[in-house]
Amino acid sequence: MKPKIVVFTGAGISAESGIKTFRDSDGLWEEYHIMEVATPQGWEKNRELVLDFYNKRRKQVLETKPNKGHLALVKLEKKYDVHIITQNIDDLHERAGSKKVLHLHGEIFKSRSTTNPSLIYPIKGAELNLGDKCERGSQLRPHIVWFGEQVPEMEKAYDIAAQADIFMVIGTSMVVYPAAGLIDYVKPNIPKYLIDPSDVKIGGVSNLTVIKEKAGVGLPMLLELLMNS
Ligand code: OAD
Repeated sequence: MKPKIVVFTGAGISAESGIKTFRDSDGLWEEYHIMEVATPQGWEKNRELVLDFYNKRRKQVLETKPNKGHLALVKLEKKYDVHIITQNIDDLHERAGSKKVLHLHGEIFKSRSTTNPSLIYPIKGAELNLGDKCERGSQLRPHIVWFGEQVPEMEKAYDIAAQADIFMVIGTSMVVYPAAGLIDYVKPNIPKYLIDPSDVKIGGVSNLTVIKEKAGVGLPMLLELLMNS
């Protein structure tokens, strides 16, 4: 059986593809108010604004492609059982070719019913608009986990993290919970790697190697190391 690598990714892994992160300078949360576009309250206040925000994000994702970081994770699958747990709503891991990807915060190319959360649909093209309805006639919303909402995939993610033989954290500020708490479920003795050009605060983590690089540089380096170890 191949050793299991669990990779926890955030906005930083898609930054070199041209997708803005949230909290870096010039990040999305400098341009938009979280409360207006990424909460159930924002949705109730102004659905058009929320739909427009995600339509813009979707258009942007359509114009991008996976970068060296995403591609390095695909190459790791030759030797390892690679599970990606991502906070990202883009589809760049899938387009790069990664086989096992779990999205904690939803997916930009899916919509779901506002009255029945189990009714989930692919979004063809870039737009989801007012008047787009589920099969039962309710308005569709972006299939995104907003602040203040449950993270339905969290339990599954904890189980996957607990089985890791190697754990990686790539391009996340580790400030949004419960996602950032995933690392607490990882076995303490296994090797852990953190790749991020900034100083990310994750205290109390044993056996941690920090690679202070962008994902497009740090991941190919780590790939080399792990394929030859
Ligand atoms: P953040 O914007 O909070 O953090 C991005 C991280 O990526 C920072 O630590 C940067 O230093 C790092 N970074 C920037 N460029 C990089 C590069 N080229 N390579 C590697 N790392 C790089 O984004 P997240 O931690 O993903 O949630 O944010 C978590 C959640 O907050 C998101 O999923 C989103 C957001 O609000 C929702 O919308 C629910």
